[in-house]
Amino acid sequence: MEPAVFWHTCLAIFISFSGFMVSCHLTDQVSLSSNFLFGTASSSYQYEGAFLSDGKGLSNWDVFTHEAGHVKDGSNGDVAVDHYHRYLEDIKLMADMGVNSFRFSISWARILPKGRFGKVNMAGIEYYSKLIDALLLKGIQPFVTLTHYDIPQELEDRYGGWLNSQIQYDFSYFANICFKYFGDRVKYWITMNEASFVAISGYRDGSYPPARCSGIFGNCSAGGDSEREPFIAAHNMILSHAAAVRIYRTRYQKCQGGMIGITMGVEWYEPFSNSSEDIAATQRARSFYTNWFLDPIILGRYPEEMVQILGSNLPEFSVSDLRMLSYGLDFIGINHYSAVYIKDCLYSACEHGNSWSEGSYLTTTQRDGVYIGEPGEVDWQFVYPQGIEKVVMYIKDRFNNTPMFITENGFAGNSSSIEDALNDVHRVKYMHSYLNSLANAIRKGADVRGYFAWSLLDNFEWLDGYTIRFGLYYVNYTNLQRTPKLSATKYPELMCNFHIELEAHTAQK
Ligand code: BGC
Repeated sequence: MEPAVFWHTCLAIFISFSGFMVSCHLTDQVSLSSNFLFGTASSSYQYEGAFLSDGKGLSNWDVFTHEAGHVKDGSNGDVAVDHYHRYLEDIKLMADMGVNSFRFSISWARILPKGRFGKVNMAGIEYYSKLIDALLLKGIQPFVTLTHYDIPQELEDRYGGWLNSQIQYDFSYFANICFKYFGDRVKYWITMNEASFVAISGYRDGSYPPARCSGIFGNCSAGGDSEREPFIAAHNMILSHAAAVRIYRTRYQKCQGGMIGITMGVEWYEPFSNSSEDIAATQRARSFYTNWFLDPIILGRYPEEMVQILGSNLPEFSVSDLRMLSYGLDFIGINHYSAVYIKDCLYSACEHGNSWSEGSYLTTTQRDGVYIGEPGEVDWQFVYPQGIEKVVMYIKDRFNNTPMFITENGFAGNSSSIEDALNDVHRVKYMHSYLNSLANAIRKGADVRGYFAWSLLDNFEWLDGYTIRFGLYYVNYTNLQRTPKLSATKYPELMCNFHIELEAHTAQK
């Protein structure tokens, strides 16, 4: 039967769970099932709130948002969406949609308020333990990120955070505690979320904590060296990832039986023209953002373009670093939202191109006055669904089809009326088209094992505060009430449709 026919017969959808299998019962005759993880994603600072409650220490984001001028609406994550107190209600919302996984991050400062220099906060352990148990009780797999931008402020104050190689000890110390207390129940670990973004925004343009930058990138009051520090911070992140993976592999993985990976932000980069210069610039852009981390972790070396351009500003791996890097990863997490054109600035004159330390290319969203995709509701997002297929195929080919999870994909809404926010037709269309495109990649052989919509709820959107909304559920920020948007009611259908597409593909083989 054609996929379209299946779709029309999809009158009743029951997403049921046996273990962690999703079954999509379409009619009495047709029943589909797979191990594919479908979920929603979140992060501790954007969701939890409970500022300094129950022994939590200060994080870099607590400090940063409390300084005036950083966040658009002057807000912070002190309360956020109060997931810390409302997680049971939120798990019920997930169960109602029929998802089988939830991606959340652990607040490092809630577990270790003073990093490795203080005690473990047992109230923090208890909170995450209860969250994990409650998820499992509903058949929802916890998919856990160790750090999603937030680190204990203590590490920043004591030795300069990611700029100091000491952080490798702190990160692996923290990871060890998480594996020890939660690893009996958590089978998916992400070491870091969008590490290249943390390095760039924290140490090149200074827009995120610790807000360091210099020269043409700005005059940050915290100081900085935009040409060198992003690469030092990144080097320490790469080695921190490796140190955590080594601990997992040598002490836990055999008996706990989980997987560990890293999540990168990977937007699609389309060459502005088919000139060899623009094509090479596009490859450089990928290397200076994504391969910057994935090449060392998977291939044991920095990308060639970075070595050539950065010279001695790119740190080197010692023999013992390389040994540690060989622990690699089990999967690549991909956060994907949009697409841009890339234009060469190495051989061509660019008015506003980026510097040599950024890879000498220019990003633009228009060509001959036409946008790369339909503009979304925020200035940086363009709907270009084929981008997710292209990103996945690129990663598949470069990294030998390492298992992949789409750890974030979502649509930013900025409507000021509640009615429009609830009737989020654009988000539904976006998710539908991106899932169809993802199915194409899987059909072409890409080993993609899961998809997480960003996000379950509207939440604290970093520098945009509460001004833009990504949730499938609308949050009223006065009383924190959650209301399903159209997308929450459609997500079950979208998941079902996706399974049908793949099932039809498997049947044809
Ligand atoms: C981040 C999320 C963020 C989302 C939307 C991702 O890059 O991981 O924390 O909310 O983008 O901007």
